[in-house]
Amino acid sequence: MSYDVCVIGAGPGGYVAAIKAAQLGLKTVIIEREKLGGVCLNVGCIPSKAMITAAHFLHKVEHESSTMGIEVSGVKLNMPKLKNWKQSVSDRMAGGVEQLLKGNKVEIVQGDAEFTSANDITVKSSKETRHIKAKNFVVATGSRPIEIPGFSFDEKTVMSSTGALDLEQVPKKLITIGGGYIGLEISSYLAELGCEVTILEAADGVLKGAADPDCIKVVERQLKKQGNVKVHTKAFAKSFEKKGSGVVVKAEVNGKVESFEADKILVTVGRKPNSDQMKLKQIGLNIDDRGFVKVDAQMRSNIPHIFAIGDIAGQPMLAHKASHEGVLVAEVMAGHNRVYDAKTVPAVIFTHPEIASAGWTEEECKAQGYSDLKVNKFPFAANGRAVSLMETDGFVKMIADNKTHRLLGVHICGPEASNLISEAVLAIEMGARLEDLALSIHPHPTLGETMMEAAEATLGHAIHMINKPVNTKKSSAQARV
Ligand code: NAI
Repeated sequence: MSYDVCVIGAGPGGYVAAIKAAQLGLKTVIIEREKLGGVCLNVGCIPSKAMITAAHFLHKVEHESSTMGIEVSGVKLNMPKLKNWKQSVSDRMAGGVEQLLKGNKVEIVQGDAEFTSANDITVKSSKETRHIKAKNFVVATGSRPIEIPGFSFDEKTVMSSTGALDLEQVPKKLITIGGGYIGLEISSYLAELGCEVTILEAADGVLKGAADPDCIKVVERQLKKQGNVKVHTKAFAKSFEKKGSGVVVKAEVNGKVESFEADKILVTVGRKPNSDQMKLKQIGLNIDDRGFVKVDAQMRSNIPHIFAIGDIAGQPMLAHKASHEGVLVAEVMAGHNRVYDAKTVPAVIFTHPEIASAGWTEEECKAQGYSDLKVNKFPFAANGRAVSLMETDGFVKMIADNKTHRLLGVHICGPEASNLISEAVLAIEMGARLEDLALSIHPHPTLGETMMEAAEATLGHAIHMINKPVNTKKSSAQARV
């Protein structure tokens, strides 16, 4: 069979590329060896958000609702039922992807693809082997969790995120190795579901380099408040042995060997691109030393009719970046004049409270040559909607160029940070100044008002906080939260 476009991998990069290519009139086939929707829909973003929603709900009912006068007794977690519901959320989304692909006349082929040359692939399934030729290929085969020596995944005792999202019961005690994005998201919700979590993080702090340092402090404080999460930094997990039905993990913490007991281990030390598969190297595709396929601004590899998008094409390994690149490659393959020129890729960490960011941190601004900054924060504690939600931890922090007031970075830690950040993305893409945000009327009473007030605070004249002179030189935050 011969096509205009063959997309390999049906995650948020690949399926978006395939739909867009078909919409643009290209005869398109998509190949997937597992489930449509990829890691994101099946064992990543979507099921983890379902678990996080349920865990917050339980936490609120158990610990917060009585403050509002809602007294509940006999609350109990039915984990098998929760697991089924989580699965139904993923299945519904994956089913939607199938309908969209079919509705746009994209042919779906189930099986394991491998290049036989730069111009054709074979797809093996339990039923058959198919040969496919195409004018263009899009490699969107993603990434997988990194294993560390001595901790091979069996998804029962030693789990990756996949196993942790599929637990039959909440473990009494869990050891999480790696306090990054995934480690903190899963640890936070399992703790809310009643698990005692010990996080072993090799760096000198959690989420190092993944978020604004002030935002990280709020999450660390919340983890402490939670009571059943302990974080050990400068902690390297070395080995484990089974003890009864549980495990004992030996780790070097600040140079001393310590033992930690638990029922299960979760390893979340990063993900690596799947570039060692599909004979990508053998057909001559250039791959860098971190395993990412080298691409230009049109996501084109060194073999001009092979494109790569998503996790396999470089950091940040985020679904929305993959989807953006999916649309881009489809347009390039259809002959449109497009390059990757996004100013910012927003990032969200779904801890409690959430952290979301767009643009640069203060450190990054300075590295980019912006030494004269205007920085300030507006606290959620001063926002009526946040108070009525009983979600007052955190702030919106804005960083702007002191001369032009142009927005360079927004870092939010607090309720609905994940939804609020989109306004910052638009502002940064449009080259907005603080005044643009401050002078836009935001509806009351909403969390969105914190964006307007943070811009006003950074200009030195917020209404709902006492303004101190904004120290532009030290670029330190003024609002106390
Ligand atoms: P990560 O790179 O965020 O964090 C890994 C952490 O493990 C680091 O802090 C590192 O210092 C630590 N570490 C490494 N080796 C260690 C060892 N031997 N012992 C103890 N600690 C060790 O990786 P993570 O959390 O696995 O996430 C992978 C990727 O998935 C992220 O880069 C992110 O882009 C993506 N992701 C995005 C999410 C979102 O958008 N909300 C959610 C989950 C993942």
